[in-house]
Amino acid sequence: MREDWAALRVALVLGLLTLTCAPLMAQTAADHERARKIVSGGCLLCHGIDGESSSELFPKLAAQNAAYIARQLASFKSGARKSTAMQGMVKDLSEADMKALGEYFSRKPATAHELRDPDLAAVGRYVYAQGNRFSGVAACAGCHGPDAAGSAELPRLAGQHALYIENRIGEFSRRERASDNAVMHAVAEKMTELEIKAVAEYLAGKK
Ligand code: HEC
Ligand code: HEC
Repeated sequence: MREDWAALRVALVLGLLTLTCAPLMAQTAADHERARKIVSGGCLLCHGIDGESSSELFPKLAAQNAAYIARQLASFKSGARKSTAMQGMVKDLSEADMKALGEYFSRKPATAHELRDPDLAAVGRYVYAQGNRFSGVAACAGCHGPDAAGSAELPRLAGQHALYIENRIGEFSRRERASDNAVMHAVAEKMTELEIKAVAEYLAGKK
């Protein structure tokens, strides 16, 4: 009799858990579908259906951090981050769409590029991990993490296209990327061309 009660209690708890979790799971499926529709309606042309973009000019979004993606979409929409390519793409997105898109891409598997120049990448690995104490470039790892996976708010850099990374560092250093750029401006303005190319080559090949 006592065992029956115990079994009943377990069943009750499990039942309650399913009841409370079911709407959450349904929500995720609905959000996934919402994001997939938006992506197949346009984003895929440049970023691919799985966030594997078609050109080095377009950032890879696969495995990028969800909150970071949502924030960038909001910045494009408000005009704080300028991009002729992205401007028209975000104008009809709601906050919920942006969140769903962030979740969607963050769950796609990460990929890395073949290294083109291992010697250059070795210089990049040093700058990424240590910075340049002679010129005052801060170590990238301090913010973007030792494995370049970023954090909720900070972008993942591992596996990104080298050219996209170079272009962004150039923009930060010229203060053209005006959204949330104070920190990166201070880092980028001290970097030499060699350091920029090296760090980009290293990151592109990083899994
Ligand atoms: C015509 C090509 C094109 C299309 C279509 C497009 N994008 Fe982009 N996207 C770009 C380019 C180019 C950039 C880089 C902008 C820059 O920084 O100058 C970018 C940047 C981004 C970023 C910032 C990534 C980062 O690492 O900071 C996100 C997020 C993004 N796009 C999401 C989307 C979504 C979601 C859609 C569909 C609603 C979309 N894009 C449609 C070209 C495109
Ligand atoms: C003190 C913290 C900090 C350090 C150190 C730092 N970053 Fe960043 N980085 C940031 C922040 C914050 C952003 C996001 C800015 C935004 O939200 O628009 C960023 C964005 C970037 C981006 C844009 C990514 C994208 O997807 O568009 C690149 C590229 C980048 N950092 C490269 C580097 C490199 C390379 C180094 C080292 C030489 C470095 N960062 C060091 C904080 C840092």
